[in-house]
Amino acid sequence: MRQVRTLGLLGTGVIGGGWAARALHFGIDVVAADLKPQMEEWLRGAVANAEGALARLTFAPLPAKGRLTFTTDMHAMARQVDFIQENIPEQLELKQRVLAEISRHAPPDVVIASSTSGLMPSDLQRDMVAPERLLVAHPFNPVYLLPLVELVGGRATSEAALEAAAHFYRYIGMHPLRVRREVPGHLTDRLQEAIWREILHLVNDGVATTGELDESIIYGPGLRWAGMGTNLIYHLAGGEPGMRHMLRQFGPCLKWPWTKLEAPELTEELIDRMVEGTQSQAAGRSIRELERLRDNYLVAIQQVLREYDLGAGATLRALEERLYEDAAARARPHLAAASVSAAAGNRSGPLRLLETCVRPEWIDYNGHMTDWRYLQLFGDATDALFRYAGIDEAYRRSGRAMYTLETHLTHKAEAHSQERLYVLSRVLEVDEKRVRVQHTLQRARDEVLVASAEVLYLHVSTQEGKVARMDAEVRGHLVAIQAATN
Ligand SMILES: NC(=O)c1ccc[n+]([C@@H]2O[C@H](COP(=O)([O-])OP(=O)(O)OC[C@H]3O[C@@H](n4cnc5c(N)ncnc54)[C@H](O)[C@@H]3O)[C@@H](O)[C@H]2O)c1
Repeated sequence: MRQVRTLGLLGTGVIGGGWAARALHFGIDVVAADLKPQMEEWLRGAVANAEGALARLTFAPLPAKGRLTFTTDMHAMARQVDFIQENIPEQLELKQRVLAEISRHAPPDVVIASSTSGLMPSDLQRDMVAPERLLVAHPFNPVYLLPLVELVGGRATSEAALEAAAHFYRYIGMHPLRVRREVPGHLTDRLQEAIWREILHLVNDGVATTGELDESIIYGPGLRWAGMGTNLIYHLAGGEPGMRHMLRQFGPCLKWPWTKLEAPELTEELIDRMVEGTQSQAAGRSIRELERLRDNYLVAIQQVLREYDLGAGATLRALEERLYEDAAARARPHLAAASVSAAAGNRSGPLRLLETCVRPEWIDYNGHMTDWRYLQLFGDATDALFRYAGIDEAYRRSGRAMYTLETHLTHKAEAHSQERLYVLSRVLEVDEKRVRVQHTLQRARDEVLVASAEVLYLHVSTQEGKVARMDAEVRGHLVAIQAATN
């Protein structure tokens, strides 16, 4: 299966737009195809709308944004992409027809994934050419912020297609959940549907309003669910003996008529109650306003969970580690070559450790790059240097790290939105416990010096909270880079 550089989208509504925003943000080009030409404007608006929240999700070094192109020619899209995500309306015959047609134009090593909320992959792949590359990859709205994607294979789906898809989704910061066998509604929608049916009953029977039912979730179970699912939470509900006690205690309730599950009939009266209830909850706020509010708290929750390495926060951590590692990998050949030439007595001068493009969200009210982004870029260049020397996640887990003691930063020129920049770095000084690094930020188009910084780092034992000698091998690498860059 292919390495995914270009993602093809089939259908660019709510879900297609979400896929586009996520993929572009993490540097994947997108060719989006929809029957309706007017969807291009909608799609570009949806991508722009997602940018604010996505930009705050992580400060790890990102590659340049992907390029978005739009077409109404499905076949042209299928011929030029590495992976196709189908997001057309939830109708089996329509999806079967369109997937079969697309499969005749997409090379057989292009994975085709369907965003279907509940259709079965074996039905979807029925008439396709190379049906082994079809799988269901069911995302959640907003796709650009929620990491979950359920992966379901059909009878003909190959393990290679499922693995390639999981790899791609992980790359764009998602949590692929492999569903062991296909069932209508996959896993999450089955659970959501159970609650949804009970909600409709409770509103229909006049027991509660939509607002009260939402309160019953957001002040209680909803808070727990973000970090632990129902099962682990119920294990805690059993006290010290855990789940066994919980089942013994609450088992009899399962025989009581607490839930109905069979949905009530959707009468006009029930529909009116649901609509009026949610309109009163919206309290005059537009869908766009509510989406922004939702996006902001979704980002904040994931950042809190990251501290605990839990659920979506663990996915975010893994993504950030990948982004730092990729940035370091781009710098590594320069560092390795410099070490070799230093050993031969040659100097290579300052090394290009980071390349970046000023993202629109880095601009402040003065119209150019805001102060703290300079610190971040220099920090990212240092991270690449330190990773090369051996100070990586494993080193930090062993209780040793570099802490910043002093930073002197000088601004020389402005950096504007979309400007390409790069960082040149030198190691000025190394001893057993300290390293001094100099960075300059250069504008790629005219080589103008934008800013420079000198930073002093101390090597510490994080367990003792004290300055400590660095590992001899780490020091050796830093000394070699010092020799090469001075
Ligand atoms: N909306 C959700 O919350 C959600 C969540 C997860 C999965 N899904 C699934 O994603 C899929 C898309 O849902 P949506 O909410 O984005 O729908 P949508 O109606 O917003 O978008 C569908 C798009 O497909 C286009 N389209 C229709 N026929 C087409 C064709 N033959 N070729 C190309 N484009 C075509 C339409 O013009 C439209 O822009 C569905 O299968 C749905 O079950 C939806």
